[in-house]
Amino acid sequence: MTPPDRMRELFLLDPQVTFLNHGSFGACPRDVFETQQRWQLEMERNPVAFLGRRSAQLLSYARAVLGSTLGASGEHLVFVPNATTGVNIVARSFALRPGDEVLSTDMEYGACDATWQHVCAQHGAHYRKVEIPLPFEREEFVARVMAATTKRTRLIFTSHITSTTALVFPVADLCRAARERGIVTLVDGAHAPGQIAVDLNAIGADFYTANCHKWLCAPKGAGFLHARPEHHGSLDATVISWGYAEGVTGHVGFDAYLGSSLFERRLQWQGTRDIAAWLSVPAAIEFQARHNWPAVRENCHALARHALDTLTRRHGLQPIARDADWAQMVAIPVPPQDADGLRERLFGESAIEIPVTSHAGQLFVRISVQGYNTPDDVERLLAAPALQQE
Ligand SMILES: Cc1ncc(COP(=O)(O)O)c(C=O)c1O
Repeated sequence: MTPPDRMRELFLLDPQVTFLNHGSFGACPRDVFETQQRWQLEMERNPVAFLGRRSAQLLSYARAVLGSTLGASGEHLVFVPNATTGVNIVARSFALRPGDEVLSTDMEYGACDATWQHVCAQHGAHYRKVEIPLPFEREEFVARVMAATTKRTRLIFTSHITSTTALVFPVADLCRAARERGIVTLVDGAHAPGQIAVDLNAIGADFYTANCHKWLCAPKGAGFLHARPEHHGSLDATVISWGYAEGVTGHVGFDAYLGSSLFERRLQWQGTRDIAAWLSVPAAIEFQARHNWPAVRENCHALARHALDTLTRRHGLQPIARDADWAQMVAIPVPPQDADGLRERLFGESAIEIPVTSHAGQLFVRISVQGYNTPDDVERLLAAPALQQE
C-alpha cells in the first residue's frame, strides 16, 4: 500500500490545509485530472470527430468499465453529472398519482428531499419520512421502514451512506423487502462507490444513482444512474434532445445521437457538453486498483475510528452507531454549540477543512479520511483548540 504521505503528493490538495472533508466534493488525483485534461485537448483538436462520431463508443467503453467494477452491465447505466441529477431523472419520470406516497427516511440529503417534495406536490402525492432513531440499530432498519409503508406507498427513496450521519444503510435487504411488497426503490449512493464495495446486481434496487467524483476520486461532474432493464423505457431525460427525435436524418454519421438502446439514446446525449470527466472514470478506477484500495479503506477506517473514540471519550458522549455501520466517513458527536462558529474556528485557527453537521438536535464533526490523510492529519484535528472544550 502506498503510504498516506506519498499518496498525498499524488493529489492536488493545498498542502497548507488539513483536508478532512473528502465527503463533500471528493478530491481527484493529479494523474486522473491530467487524464481528464488529455480528453479535453483531444476534443478540441476535432470537436466534430470527438463528440459527433467517437463519443458514443468512448462512453460505452467507460460505462462498461464502471459497470464491471460495480457488478452491473454497462448497458444498464448512463452517466449523469451528479447524484442530484440521477434522483431528478427518476423523480420526474416516475408516474405518481394523487394520493400516492413516496417514503423516505429522516436522514436524506436536503437537495434530494427538495426534489421529491417538489415532484410529489406537482402530482398531489405525499413525501413522507420514517424516523431512524439514534443510536442506529442496523437490524431494525428494514423492519422500521417497511412498517411505515401503506397501500399508497409507490416508491422508497433512501441513501446508501447518509450525508449528515455517515451511516451505511442495509439497502440490499431493504430493496428485497420492498420488491416483495411491489414497491419500487431508488437508492442514493452518492457516497458509496469507492468507499464501500458496491454490487448493483446484488443490491437489486430498481434505480441506483451515485457519484464517481466523491469516493472513486474521478473528476467533478462524474456520476451515474443505474436502472433495471424493465424501467429503461419509462425514464425521461431532464433535457429532451435527439434521443426523442423520430429520425436523425440530416445528421447521418453522428453516432452520438443514436445509441444502442432507447435508454442510452434518451439519457446519454443532452446536447453539446464536456464529457471528459465521464471518460476519466476508468482512470480513477485504475488509480485505486493500482494503490490497493481495499487496504487504503481499512487504514482510513481505523484512523476515523481513532478520532471517534478520542473525541467521544473527551466529551463524554456516545457514538451514534457501531463500527460496522460506517466506513471512511464518520459523524463524531460534539457538545451543543454554534455549528458555524465551530466550523469557522476549525478552519480559521487550525486550517482544518471539516464539516459540522446536525441531525435531530445533535451536532457532529463529520470526518472523512481518504488515502491521502496521514495519522498527523487526525492528530491535528484532535489537538485543535476548538475541540478541547468540555
Ligand atoms: C447522500 C447524498 N446524496 C446526494 C448528494 C448530492 O451529490 P451531488 O451534489 O454530487 O449531486 C450528496 C452530496 O453530498 C449526498 O451527501
